Amino acid sequence: MPTPERVGELAADIFARQIAKKPDSVLGVATGSSPLTTYQALAKRIADENLDTSQLSAFALDEYIGLPYDHDQSYHYVINETVTKPLGLDPARVHVPAGMAENPAEAGREYERAIEAAGGVDVQMLGVGGNGHIGFNEPSSSLASRTRVKTLAPKTVADNARFFDKASLVPTHCLTQGIGTIMSARRLVLVANGASKADAVAALAEGPVSAMCPASVLQMHERATVIIDEAAAAKLQLREYYEYVWNNKTVQRPE
Ligand code: GLP
Repeated sequence: MPTPERVGELAADIFARQIAKKPDSVLGVATGSSPLTTYQALAKRIADENLDTSQLSAFALDEYIGLPYDHDQSYHYVINETVTKPLGLDPARVHVPAGMAENPAEAGREYERAIEAAGGVDVQMLGVGGNGHIGFNEPSSSLASRTRVKTLAPKTVADNARFFDKASLVPTHCLTQGIGTIMSARRLVLVANGASKADAVAALAEGPVSAMCPASVLQMHERATVIIDEAAAAKLQLREYYEYVWNNKTVQRPE
C-alpha cells in the first residue's frame, strides 16, 4: 500500500466486515504504533456504518510484568486508549494479560482458559518487531508456545526505551500470548510500516519458517493476511508478483 493510512483502511475493512457478520466476535488486539492507523480507520467505519460493538470482546497479546495498569506505557492503559475507547468496546469484555498478578505464570494459564471460554479469537491483529517478534515472542521462542512469562530481548528493550523516561525503567519481563496461542486465532492480520520493518517483513514472508523469526510462522496459518506500506516492502524478492496478484484479484476488495 502507498501509505500507512491505506494499510490501516485495508486492515480495518477486514475487521469491519467481521463485526458486521458477527457482532459478538472475539477480536485479538495489539499494541505498538503499527496498528494505530487500523484502529483509527476502524473507528471511522464503525461510526459511518453504525456498527454495533457492544457485544464484541477483545484479548490483547501481551503486557509488561510489574508495570501498574494506570502507567501510560502499560498495555492495559494503551489498549484502553487506542482500542476500547475509540471503538466503543465494553471495558468488561476487553482482556489484557495480568502483568501485575502475584503469580504471572498462573495468570498466563488463566488467560489461555479465558480465550478458550470466549470461543477463541476470530480475527487477530498483529504488528511485527524489527527482530521478527509477534506479541513479545522474541527470536527462539517455541513455535508452539502458549501465554507465558518471557524475558524481553535487549533489542526490544532498546526499541521501547523511547516510551520511558530512562532506558533503565523499561520492564525486562512480560506476559505474552504464545505463538501457538496466536496461531489458534481463526484469522491473522499483520500490518507493518516503514523501512525499519523491511528486513522483518522479508524474513516473515519469504524466509524459512523458523523460531529465529517468530512471525514467519504465519506461513503455516491457513488464513493470514500481511498488509504493508511501500517502505516495509522494500526487501521482498517477489514484490512485483504480489503487486501483479493484487491487481488481478477477482474477489471483491476495497478501492
Ligand atoms: C512491541 C509489541 C508488539 C508490536 C511490536 C512492534 O514490543 N509487543 O506487539 O507489534 O513491538 O511495535 P511497533 O508497531 O511500535 O513497531
